[in-house]
Amino acid sequence: MTLAVSSWERSSASELVKRLGSFNGRRFATAAPLLLPDNMHCEGRLSEKMSRKSFVIATVANCLLTGVLFAQSQPAVLTIHADQPISKVSPTLYGLMTEEINHSYDGGLYAEMVSNRTFGGSWAGIHNWILVEEGNSQAKIAPDSKTGPSEALPNSLRIDVSEASAAEPAGVLNEGYWGMAIRPNTTYTGSLYAKEDSASVGPITVSLVQNQSGKVVATATVSGVTTDWKQYPFTLKTGAVEPSAANHLVLTVAHPGTLWLSLVSLFPPTYHNRANGNRIDLMEKLAAMHPAFLRFPGGNYLEGDHIPERYEWKKTIGPLVDRPTHPSPWRYHSSDGLGLLEFLESCEDLHMQPVLAVYAGYSMAQEHVNPGADLDPYVQDALDEIEYVTGGTNTKWGAIRAANGHPEPFHLNYVEIGNEDFFDKSGSYEGRYSQFYKAIKAKYPDLLLIATMPVKSIRPDVIDDHYYKRATDFFHDTTHYDKTDRNGPKIFVGEWATREGTPTPNFGAALGDAAWMTGMERNSDIIVMAAYAPLLVNVNPGAMQWETDLIGYDALRSYGSPSYYAQVLFAKYLGTGTLASSLQGAGPKFFYSITKDEANKRLYLKLVNASSDPQPVNVEFPGASLAATATLTSLIANSTEATNTIDNPDSIVPKESTIHLSGSALHHTMPAYSIQVVELNER
Ligand code: AHR
Repeated sequence: MTLAVSSWERSSASELVKRLGSFNGRRFATAAPLLLPDNMHCEGRLSEKMSRKSFVIATVANCLLTGVLFAQSQPAVLTIHADQPISKVSPTLYGLMTEEINHSYDGGLYAEMVSNRTFGGSWAGIHNWILVEEGNSQAKIAPDSKTGPSEALPNSLRIDVSEASAAEPAGVLNEGYWGMAIRPNTTYTGSLYAKEDSASVGPITVSLVQNQSGKVVATATVSGVTTDWKQYPFTLKTGAVEPSAANHLVLTVAHPGTLWLSLVSLFPPTYHNRANGNRIDLMEKLAAMHPAFLRFPGGNYLEGDHIPERYEWKKTIGPLVDRPTHPSPWRYHSSDGLGLLEFLESCEDLHMQPVLAVYAGYSMAQEHVNPGADLDPYVQDALDEIEYVTGGTNTKWGAIRAANGHPEPFHLNYVEIGNEDFFDKSGSYEGRYSQFYKAIKAKYPDLLLIATMPVKSIRPDVIDDHYYKRATDFFHDTTHYDKTDRNGPKIFVGEWATREGTPTPNFGAALGDAAWMTGMERNSDIIVMAAYAPLLVNVNPGAMQWETDLIGYDALRSYGSPSYYAQVLFAKYLGTGTLASSLQGAGPKFFYSITKDEANKRLYLKLVNASSDPQPVNVEFPGASLAATATLTSLIANSTEATNTIDNPDSIVPKESTIHLSGSALHHTMPAYSIQVVELNER
């Protein structure tokens, strides 16, 4: 039951709490004299023999012992004027930013299971491929740069088998990206390019094998290999196996001779069953974030360390055999299997708009292209790229997109010119941005062009700001955009994160993130979009280049960090406009945002208590007529270091409950370290 406590009862209970304070040292030691809030909610049962006085005291004691009742300051008063809209909330406020970092694509979102599938580029030797010699069979393997299946893929793996038989075959195995995920009763779709010398070494046996038991869980045969390069499809089907990541792929032959392999590929079922598609679990996690847009392909990945290592979109489209792959600035090679069209199709799958970042003539080793004639080919490349995305099939690049499998043009609103060009010490961005701006606007006047730093000669439509901070810094910076000139360029917070926790953010980071998001929401009349970065991390040793990433995974499993769940909540309960409000008496680590969804007549109150003490708050809605019950969704932890991990993925997840209003007020105590959303319905 809930007690309304009189002032006498309150002071007796306070006295009792003072005496019992040593039971919960940290919370009570500093709390004398203790004030019990008017709306003290303690569950208890009043027996017939008990006086009300002893019941109150017993209940308080019980609450104290069970830790329900804590020392509390006077409640903060939050007054919300549901009938006074302040500004519009950007419907595209929350979206995604990805790039090839931390094995975000290869070994991550991109569902390919075979690592180093093309044996080329700058890999050291034949990384991830191991010689197999069963029994007394004998063979040698070596990378071969003299033959490959295409101009784009001039390399291959050469396997010289000197002795082999059906009982004792020889060949190679691939370790996958820290293993290969196998699930029961699942069909895996594979293909490989192969050729052999005149002797017949084939057929090739392709098998998925468990690492520990050595048991073959699926097998297929590839026959008819000739002396010319050709692609061979195969299918592997598992039976009743335990799901596991500890598996590898084996390719063997039973006869002596020489075999060359390239572009060995294996896919599990993918999101929306797309060929060359994405991992289902990761796409589902992204979908749950209600993303309005995807900023791609980077980030530093767009720029590359050197100009020839930039993201060249034309080399990422069409059949995989025509994609040459390229070194990424994050110290591993990119297969470019997740190329421009695949990015766009991911946008389609998750109903996001693409925010297309085009290479703008700056690479990270302080290499730049001078504005003017030198830059013209890069500008043309961007124009071609925009045509590939948006052009009809009657345009050159629109027709190529159609030939690649997507006749329908994609809708594009935003193009970003470069990435973090404030790092370019030559000061060339002013000229580079303006050259891109003029050329793109001339052909596509409706496109909004994002600058990566302030420019003077032209007014950018949007400026991309990046913030990587500690939680405390975000707590102190939630008012960052409160005074920003509303007549200036709009803001895209294209990368931001509280960097605390590795590989994924801990709860302290989630509190910093949530506090920052309250500030972004309040200013989302000017902040049109925002994206956490980096989004993804493969948590295996050696896979990560950047600490504190939103979603972690290995080959088989994935999990959301506390920050991920904070994002899910903020994006799910976005609202269409902010409301007038005022706050009094709150602690310094209390933050909030109040928005309303006009169509649904729903109010979303986001509350953040980053303090180690609970925060009582009386929320008043003068003049509003609200339903008596509201939904409360809570994300709570016991410590700022608390987190989710690959082995303990659901330690901190949102939990829903119902809370009750008294008239047009909500008397609520936020637990220590909590992020909460209250969903209120107007009557
Ligand atoms: O998100 C990681 C990196 O941080 C991005 O690639 C870059 O834009 C920023 O400096």
